[in-house]
Amino acid sequence: MSKILVTGGCGYIGSHTVVDLIENGFDVISIDDNSRSTTYLLNGIEKITGKKLKNYKVDLKNFDETLAVFQENPDIAGVIHFAAYKAVGESVEMPLDYFENNLFSLINLLKCVKEFKVNNFVFSSSCTVYGSPDVIPVTEQTPTKKAESPYGATKQMGEEIISEFARAYGFNTVLLRYFNPVGAHPTAFIGELPLGKPQNLVPAITQTAIGKIPQMMVYGDDYDTRDGSCLRDYIHVCDIAHAHTLAVQYMIDKKNTTNREVFNLGSGNGVTVLEAIKAFEAVSGEKLNYKIGPRRPGDVVAIYANNSYAVQTLNWELKYDINEMMRTAWAWEQKVKQDEELMKKQNPVLN
Ligand code: WQD
Repeated sequence: MSKILVTGGCGYIGSHTVVDLIENGFDVISIDDNSRSTTYLLNGIEKITGKKLKNYKVDLKNFDETLAVFQENPDIAGVIHFAAYKAVGESVEMPLDYFENNLFSLINLLKCVKEFKVNNFVFSSSCTVYGSPDVIPVTEQTPTKKAESPYGATKQMGEEIISEFARAYGFNTVLLRYFNPVGAHPTAFIGELPLGKPQNLVPAITQTAIGKIPQMMVYGDDYDTRDGSCLRDYIHVCDIAHAHTLAVQYMIDKKNTTNREVFNLGSGNGVTVLEAIKAFEAVSGEKLNYKIGPRRPGDVVAIYANNSYAVQTLNWELKYDINEMMRTAWAWEQKVKQDEELMKKQNPVLN
């Protein structure tokens, strides 16, 4: 049974990928310092898979502690690297923290991968590397543009660092460019836990519907799109997770080649903000309280993926449509509220 190291295994996409890897016969360990996550999702992973995920609470910026994990697990057959800061707006306010955290972590990890000859490295990248594309849908050959935020710059630099690493030392690497991951596991045992006020659309929708946010803002309806609101490629987090399992298996099957692959992980469908809201209202039966506000600086008007290379090369079959994305996101939001109420009952001090 091949052992895979997932960094950021306690996070949103990381936890869903851990579940998919376990369900597909892999042994999994995680490195997550819980600076931007909690161990809450570990319970959900155990409920779904029956397995207790071993998480090493290590800061990847600490090389010695990271190396120690590899020394304790010399049989690591692949690494999937999620752990990074990812809030676009925050990165504009704290660029140095983003460059230090996201790039130092990556370089330390690659030093360990090189030392232990782990010839299988998957990097969590983002469609943000395409900036505001001139032509949509975008393929993997669409030229990348200067990043619109330090967060996006760390993804672009990360891709560069990995490409040079793979070329110079001869390693198999895969860059996965996510579009907009949304939704939650169908069991509602794991999902997205945004820290503070959610920046992303779908958690903002579900937290408005559940009453955590009084009224949601739609950032602009005067764009050159079919209904004036921005267009994105929303993709279910479980479809994203399974693509990681397929990418790791793809490299294991290729054995000791020096393959550098890039895949667009999108649904291939463009959906506007207002269409996403309508889909949520239809599946939840809730009337969403929102108003149209000013545009958000840095927003791309329209982007969605041509995902055919990933579908064909990885044999990737997508299972969830926009309605399932909204249904599972809503079920998860309701589950979190139930758990919060249960915790308040058990710990009155939380009230
Ligand atoms: C989508 C649309 C907003 C909130 C970013 C990163 C990307 C990835 C996902 C990490 C936009 C609108 C949003 C709200 C709104 N990050 N919106 N009201 O900006 O496409 O992508 O997050 O993996 O790399 O760039 O996602 O969900 O923030 O916004 O109107 O309260 O929803 O203006 O048009 P985005 P998003």
